[in-house]
Amino acid sequence: MRVVLLGGAGYIGSVASHHLASLGHQVTVVDGLIYNRGDDPGRLLPSAAEFVNGDLRDPDLLGRVCDGANAVVHLGGIVGEPACRLDEELAVELNYAAPMIAAETAAGAGVGQYVFFSSCSVYGRHEGTVDEGTEPNPLGVYARTKVLAERRLPDVLAGVTESTILRLATVHGSSPRQRLDSVVNSMASRAVATGCIPLNGGAQRRPLVHVGDVAQVLASVLDDNLAGAWNVGSDQENHTIAEIAETVAAIVPGSRIQCGPERDEADARDYRVSFARLKQRIPRACSTTLKDGVQQIADLLATRTITDPDEPQYDNHRGLADAFTAGRVRILRTRACERYRSEYTAAWGQL
Ligand SMILES: NC(=O)c1ccc[n+]([C@@H]2O[C@H](COP(=O)([O-])OP(=O)(O)OC[C@H]3O[C@@H](n4cnc5c(N)ncnc54)[C@H](O)[C@@H]3O)[C@@H](O)[C@H]2O)c1
Repeated sequence: MRVVLLGGAGYIGSVASHHLASLGHQVTVVDGLIYNRGDDPGRLLPSAAEFVNGDLRDPDLLGRVCDGANAVVHLGGIVGEPACRLDEELAVELNYAAPMIAAETAAGAGVGQYVFFSSCSVYGRHEGTVDEGTEPNPLGVYARTKVLAERRLPDVLAGVTESTILRLATVHGSSPRQRLDSVVNSMASRAVATGCIPLNGGAQRRPLVHVGDVAQVLASVLDDNLAGAWNVGSDQENHTIAEIAETVAAIVPGSRIQCGPERDEADARDYRVSFARLKQRIPRACSTTLKDGVQQIADLLATRTITDPDEPQYDNHRGLADAFTAGRVRILRTRACERYRSEYTAAWGQL
């Protein structure tokens, strides 16, 4: 199968590209390498993959890579609320306009399947357990762009292209394009580097999933042409932030939890997610544990594969700020971007 991974040189995409290539798929990765400051993409991607350095808002480029593809997977965008808050207009272009432009192009090219990487962040804050039928409750711009894209994709794909929505739990574990800014990776790297595990509050629940398991789910979704919305994770891996800290402390020798003030409303996400639908369809999906992911991150620092976890390249918020300042990523305001920005403001109000 010929698969195009948009944003495929990122944390998840670089793992997924290796996995899909190992299964014999023909993989094309398109990425602007926002966080990599000129790194050789050959270090991130399998040698069999084709790499195209470009912007995911460029319809001509997308037209060329979609031509003859069986599936298009959209992993691009700015991940998480803190990075999206740097510039809301940029976030709307990268997280809403870009996947919609790609969907228009994929449908125009007659691509069979379009997989959109969404997030369990769409659930925001909920009592009880949420599943794919629960009404989303987006708490910030990141989640709002995901909710709107999910809603609009079926119209844009116009019955030509099958649409698959993957709502990921928070991802952990090692990758050729390492991120250390999500909760597990951040706590594990801090524990090794400083001996301290910062904990602010800690009662909020977070579902977790290992990056390698996400790649496996993507491969299954492509093989079986699974359509519709899927929560990606495991019922066993719903943890509170305090439990994550305790797990890290138990694995990293000599580390201890350092309690700080409760988090403010900026990250008020709190939800328990049901992954029953995925388990029923793919019974062995997402079986890697939190402990395994923590150990992988601890090993990256212990073996000095990563020497300075504070470098901006490991943190999407600081990495994006650097890229924005250096002009490696900018607001384009093309006609298509403006059109999708209007849709966003019509749905959620002015930026
Ligand atoms: N990592 C998580 O915990 C998590 C959780 C839920 C959902 N997701 C979703 O999974 C997807 C992948 O996340 P990730 O952790 O791999 O993020 P990432 O930041 O590591 O990867 C995103 C990639 O997209 C590229 N990119 C973004 N906008 C681009 C543009 N306009 N042109 C060219 N390249 C562009 C970046 O260079 C980067 O390589 C995202 O859609 C994210 O919302 C991730």
